[in-house]
Amino acid sequence: MIKVNKLVNKNFLSSFDISIQEAHHILELAKNFKNKDLNINREGKVLGLIFDKSSTRTRVSFQVAMARLGGTTVDLNPTTSQIGRGEPVRDTARVLSRYCDVLAIRTFKQSVLEEYAKWATIPVINALTDLEHPCQALADFLTIKEEFGELKGKVLSYIGDGNNVANSLIICGALLGVEVRIACPKGYEPNSFLIDKARKINDNKSLLKITNDPSYACLGANVLYTDVWSSMGEENQKEQKDKEFKGFTIDSNFLSKAAKDAIVLHCLPAYRDKEITDAVIESKNSRIFDQAENRMHVQQALLSCLL
Ligand code: CP
Ligand code: NVA
Repeated sequence: MIKVNKLVNKNFLSSFDISIQEAHHILELAKNFKNKDLNINREGKVLGLIFDKSSTRTRVSFQVAMARLGGTTVDLNPTTSQIGRGEPVRDTARVLSRYCDVLAIRTFKQSVLEEYAKWATIPVINALTDLEHPCQALADFLTIKEEFGELKGKVLSYIGDGNNVANSLIICGALLGVEVRIACPKGYEPNSFLIDKARKINDNKSLLKITNDPSYACLGANVLYTDVWSSMGEENQKEQKDKEFKGFTIDSNFLSKAAKDAIVLHCLPAYRDKEITDAVIESKNSRIFDQAENRMHVQQALLSCLL
C-alpha cells in the first residue's frame, strides 16, 4: 500500500488520472472495505451528485458508500434544479463547491465534466460520460482480482461496442497489467486517441488488442465482458446497431472458447439475448452481481482517498 495519499483533493475525470500505484492502492482499499477490515471516517463530508442521465448502480452505490463513511449526499436532479434551465456550469460548479466536499457527475460530453472540474474548488468524479466510465472499470478489475487473486497476465475480452466502458477498461487494464482484447464490428472501435495514449502507459507494455473477430478474442480468455450495443443518448441508432452487431452476442459458444474457469462480466443494465444471452447471465461463470456490488466498495475507497 502507498503511504502518502496523493489522491487527496484530486479530480477523477478519467482512468488516466490515476497512476499504476494508485490503481492498485484503490483496489486494495476496496478489498479491505469489503472485508470490513477498515474503519475510515469521513463524518460531516458531503457528496453532491449531478446526474444528467439515468442511473441505478452508480447513484445508489455512491450514496451508500458515502453513508458508510459517515458522510451524506445531495442528489441534484437537473429537472428540479436550475441546471436543467441552463444555469452555466461555471456558476453551478462554484456555488456547489461552497456547499459540498466532492461532486460525482454523470453527463454526456467529457468536455462538460472538464468544465465542472475547471470551475469547482472541490474534487470532481466522473460518474460516466460518453467517453469514459472510470469508476466502473475499477469495480470490474476488483471483481477479476477477487476471482483470480492476481491481475497480471490475465486476459479480458470485451465483445461489443467500443464505448465509454470499453475505453475505461482499456486504460485501467494497461495500468494493472491485464491484456485487454476489444472485439467490435468495423466502425465501432474505441476512441483512437485514447488507444494511443493507453498504449504508452506502463512503459509501452500495454497488451491491448483491437479486432473485429469476436471468436478470436474469446480464445483462452479469463474474462468475457460486454455492455449494451446502444448507450444512453444513442437511442436513435438502436435499430441500425442491432443489425450491425449480429454475431457479437456473448453466448455459450463464445464461453466455450474461453478458459475453463473464465468469468463473465457486464456493467449492467443488460439487454438479455442481445449483447449477452439470458443463459450466460445466469450461468455459473457469471460474476455480474458481485461486480455490481463492487461498485460500492471501490467508490468508498475512492471517496476516502479524495477526501
Ligand atoms: N453500470 C452502471 O453505471 O449502471 P447505472 O447506469 O445503473 O449507474
Ligand atoms: N455504455 C453504457 C453504460 C451504462 C452503464 C451507457 O453509456 O449507456
